[in-house]
Amino acid sequence: MKEHNAHNGALLSVRNLRTYFHTNKGLVRAVDRASYKVDKGAFVCLIGESGSGKSVSALSIMGLIDTSPGIVGGEIMFEGTNLLEDLGKYCTINSNGSSIDIVKDISGWRKRHRLNIAGIRGRRIGMIFQDPVSSLNPLFTVADHIGESAGLRHDKLSRKQKFEIALEWLSKVRISSPKEVVHAYPFQLSGGMAQRVMIAVALAAEPQLLIADEPTTALDATVQLEILKLLKSLQEEMHLSILFITHDISIGSNFADSIAVMYAGRVIESGPPHAIFQRDNNHPYTDGLLHAALKITTDADDKKFIKGSPPDSVHHPSGCKFHPRCELKSELSDGGSRCEREEPHDIKVNENHHIRCWKYEPGN
Ligand SMILES: Nc1ncnc2c1ncn2[C@@H]1O[C@H](COP(=O)(O)OP(=O)(O)O)[C@@H](O)[C@H]1O
Ligand SMILES: [Mg+2]
Repeated sequence: MKEHNAHNGALLSVRNLRTYFHTNKGLVRAVDRASYKVDKGAFVCLIGESGSGKSVSALSIMGLIDTSPGIVGGEIMFEGTNLLEDLGKYCTINSNGSSIDIVKDISGWRKRHRLNIAGIRGRRIGMIFQDPVSSLNPLFTVADHIGESAGLRHDKLSRKQKFEIALEWLSKVRISSPKEVVHAYPFQLSGGMAQRVMIAVALAAEPQLLIADEPTTALDATVQLEILKLLKSLQEEMHLSILFITHDISIGSNFADSIAVMYAGRVIESGPPHAIFQRDNNHPYTDGLLHAALKITTDADDKKFIKGSPPDSVHHPSGCKFHPRCELKSELSDGGSRCEREEPHDIKVNENHHIRCWKYEPGN
């Protein structure tokens, strides 16, 4: 109930999302009871190491998981509608009584899911990816791409109107020679220009929410910064909400209104940047990421470097998923034995600041 209140008024609210895959290595728990939200007009950063479940959570929102998920559960509320509504019909509930839905009728599940997301994917929620050139169709021009996207929002646009809209959007994404670029094919665009075009394509449908999955990772550092500044100014000008996915925590410090940190498929900390960056009052994992980003190398702080590697997604450790790498657990009153045994719940340390770590349980 508490969580429901915390997510009230959000444009997007992901609650206890689980997306698991059956693989020949076993059950991959890609997203495992992750919760996060994006308020109207907010720039939210979803941060975590590679493999932490960031992309699978975004693709779950978009209904774009490319292989059949074995198990799905939780809620994805967007503008008051649960995008996972009624999918339980195509699932069976685990016999051990847990509320995890095992997808039995994959084609029925997919059909229903497609229905749930119809009118939302590409229209109310847009998405851009790491590799912009491969997201564009090589046979179509920039004008075609933007025009088609605008057509999703406005019926019966003429070719000329679509062309005008394409020109307008190219200016909005600060392309310096829109009249040339509008005729270009994807292969003629540089990486940075292609990403601007992708942003224009996604936004021409006038979505409420833009999900950007590592959109700057493949770009040079200077271009990266330009794209980020562009997204930030578009967010402010258009009252757009952005879910920005990145492995780079430093991006969060400059651009985000709020940050959610993912580890092993869970959100282990969330809150505004100033709270998360308070280095004596954050999750040891977040602190390790910050430490690495700031490249502090004094001996005194050495224990703050995150050692080891993220858990294998099939065999998660018991208790807190971070405990095998955590240097802080030994400082707790029980020497960290609870961390090894029991998974921390969401602890509210401050208004809007939540941490899943036993260190923040009163008494520790
Ligand atoms: N279609 C799939 N089938 C099986 N496992 C998958 C699939 N997609 C992703 N995974 C696994 O899920 C985990 C999370 O992946 P992902 O969300 O892509 O991580 P991130 O985006 O944080 O780097 C990884 O272990 C990945 O190998
Ligand atoms: Mg990813």
